[in-house]
Amino acid sequence: MTIRWYPGHMGKAQEQIAESIRKIDVIIEVLDARLPASSSNHQLEEMRRNKPCIKILNKNDLADPAVTKAWVRNFETESGVRALPMSAKQHSEVKQLLKLCQLLAPNRGRPGFPVRVMVFGIPNVGKSTLINTLAGKHMAKVGDKPAITTCAQQIDLRNGIILSDTPGLLWPDMSDQIAAYRLATSGAIGASALDYTSVGLFAAEFMLHRYPELLKFRYKFTELPDSATALIEAIGRCLGCLISGGVIDHHRAAEAFLRELRAGKLGRISLEEPGEDLARQETPPL
Ligand code: G4P
Repeated sequence: MTIRWYPGHMGKAQEQIAESIRKIDVIIEVLDARLPASSSNHQLEEMRRNKPCIKILNKNDLADPAVTKAWVRNFETESGVRALPMSAKQHSEVKQLLKLCQLLAPNRGRPGFPVRVMVFGIPNVGKSTLINTLAGKHMAKVGDKPAITTCAQQIDLRNGIILSDTPGLLWPDMSDQIAAYRLATSGAIGASALDYTSVGLFAAEFMLHRYPELLKFRYKFTELPDSATALIEAIGRCLGCLISGGVIDHHRAAEAFLRELRAGKLGRISLEEPGEDLARQETPPL
């Protein structure tokens, strides 16, 4: 199944962002540490020109630490880019971000000349959570429905930094279907655009290939099922996703598996590594 998802306000947001970016000193791009390439916005790269950019690898608590280290090294080879893994919910981790903003805009941060920072990121990547943690109170809406933040807001952090949020951004055409399936696996794509069964199969195939030991441990398998379909069935049995006659409910089993994966119940996983050629990956199930 092809995943398509493009809430209407996103196209308009891009025009507004291109305009407002000129008055910004530091760009914060919030990425999902589990899939930093697929959760980035390619247009932002063009729009940011030579502005300093901090790439936050958020939800680091859910990502594979070794892979995240490789992403940090990879991003920091880019001119003007600093990369910072963190969990936006952790105040202690977020504090170092403010110091970095001030460092990247040495001519600002004094009375009358605040460091103007704008936070970008696709829906559900954790922008509102980050802003709430930075602001120290609940100012941005946080929610489990992708695209919940729909209009820009400015927050004076009263420490020489003015923070602007942007409406959620996702590239208009989801032509890279591997990226779309990774986003769907992570929970970044709205449930209405999803076929849980095919996303569950994609995730099952990936986990069998990349993290078989985590599957064995979580579901107490002595032997791993030999295909994605068999894995979803075995997980469905394990989690009690049955219909009458003891038959596995594949849809419910896939949904339950994805819920566990997204919540980190299987352990810390990363869905992609730097340097992977998406075109050479396996085709997503249709
Ligand atoms: P957005 O503004 O970019 O759309 O994202 P938002 O902050 O609303 O966050 C989306 C979901 O991601 C929320 O979960 C939020 O708690 C979670 N989240 C944000 N940062 C982190 C992080 O560093 N680690 C983890 N594990 N989760 C994070 P939710 O379940 O939708 O809401 P809630 O029940 O947690 O409030």
